[in-house]
Amino acid sequence: MLSTLRGTIRLIQNESLKKNVFSPSKRSTSSKEIIQREKQYVAQNYHPLPVVLAKGEGVFVWDAEGNRYFDFLSGYSANNFGHCHPKIIETLIEQSKILHHTSRAFYNNVLSDFSKQLTEYFGYERFLPMNTGVEACETSVKISRKWGYTKKNIAPDEAKFLFATNNFWGRSLAACSASTTPETFQGFGPFLPGFQCIPYDDLTALEIAVQDPLVCGFMIEPIQAESGVIVPSEGYLKGVRAICSMYNVLWSADEVQTGMGRTGKRLAVDYENVLPDILILGKALGGGVYPVSGCLANDIVMSVIKPGTHGSTFGGNPLGSKIGMRAIEVLQEENLSENSFKMGEIFRKELNDRLNKKIVITVRGKGLLNAVVINPNYAKAWDICLKLKDKGLICKQTRDDIIRFSPPLIINKDQILESADIIIDTINGLI
Ligand SMILES: Cc1ncc(COP(=O)(O)O)c(C=O)c1O
Repeated sequence: MLSTLRGTIRLIQNESLKKNVFSPSKRSTSSKEIIQREKQYVAQNYHPLPVVLAKGEGVFVWDAEGNRYFDFLSGYSANNFGHCHPKIIETLIEQSKILHHTSRAFYNNVLSDFSKQLTEYFGYERFLPMNTGVEACETSVKISRKWGYTKKNIAPDEAKFLFATNNFWGRSLAACSASTTPETFQGFGPFLPGFQCIPYDDLTALEIAVQDPLVCGFMIEPIQAESGVIVPSEGYLKGVRAICSMYNVLWSADEVQTGMGRTGKRLAVDYENVLPDILILGKALGGGVYPVSGCLANDIVMSVIKPGTHGSTFGGNPLGSKIGMRAIEVLQEENLSENSFKMGEIFRKELNDRLNKKIVITVRGKGLLNAVVINPNYAKAWDICLKLKDKGLICKQTRDDIIRFSPPLIINKDQILESADIIIDTINGLI
């Protein structure tokens, strides 16, 4: 009763706050027109929620008509620091006035500092910079294959690489080749050879697969984000570490989405105090303003990459490097991993205590990477996302019956409670 009243008060407050920060000019193009124009001119490779975002600040975004929403997607976890974080924006502006891009044909005066900071913070010896998550993941496959040939004595072109079923690491042909999700790979073959998928969260399957001496590497997300926030059993990551060490296979952790405080720790692997051989970062490493990604590894692994064997025009440029440095600083200065942990606990407790269990089968996640599984007899996840939008919170389904909730890590207690109220009222209101 009390919590319902508290929720109603917060919702009324939310209503009165909704419109008063961003007032688009009267001549602005309407959301409807913008959606129509995008449908006409833009490749239809996404199915966006019908909302046109025109401004962002902190945990909020506003549409072209000035309506305010809680952002519960955070640009697929790139916006861990929220929208327009003053320290990130200041760095973006300052560095772009000094030196933005040079290429790695020359040294620049920022990349070495960025790499020193990253290696010290995450406990590795070397950093290989790229731009997007998919490039960084593919880089780790390349490093592992090269390591397989040069250090594990695998015969040329025979190396095998293991992934887990339901992995998601992007859209390149290598990522499609590794995918078990038909929507991702169907119609894009022929695929890369030498890839094999084993069940996620299954140490027995891993131990059998790595006994093949041709296996050079194994890549997993410590929590499978896109496939519905699948949290593996406790001990899985420790087991992966032990098995990969025992059979001389490189373990790559794809922390592109789970890293940078998202799951309530610096990295999701920190929950089990294990260090992968290759740590892959992306998304929030660029502060939500610039694509910055890369792989961290020790010298014994990274030294297989020689001049000319791998690279990227933009990877490691001064602008991205400076932004990456600031992103790591903000993560630490503002204790965002800790905040993510605390806010996640509050959020899941509210949802677990108050959501109608007939409609929501499961609430799961860690830190601020969470999901609810919807009983398809009551609603489609997409329809719930539409209703949530109408109530001032935007998020997106990851599967037909799963909605992911991943707000910026700067969210405070009042905001997380208010958001939980919106979600609970919307879902419970379905019956
Ligand atoms: C775990 C994971 N790895 C890799 C990627 C690919 O990142 P990007 O879209 O920046 O290429 C994603 C994207 O969602 C991801 O979630």
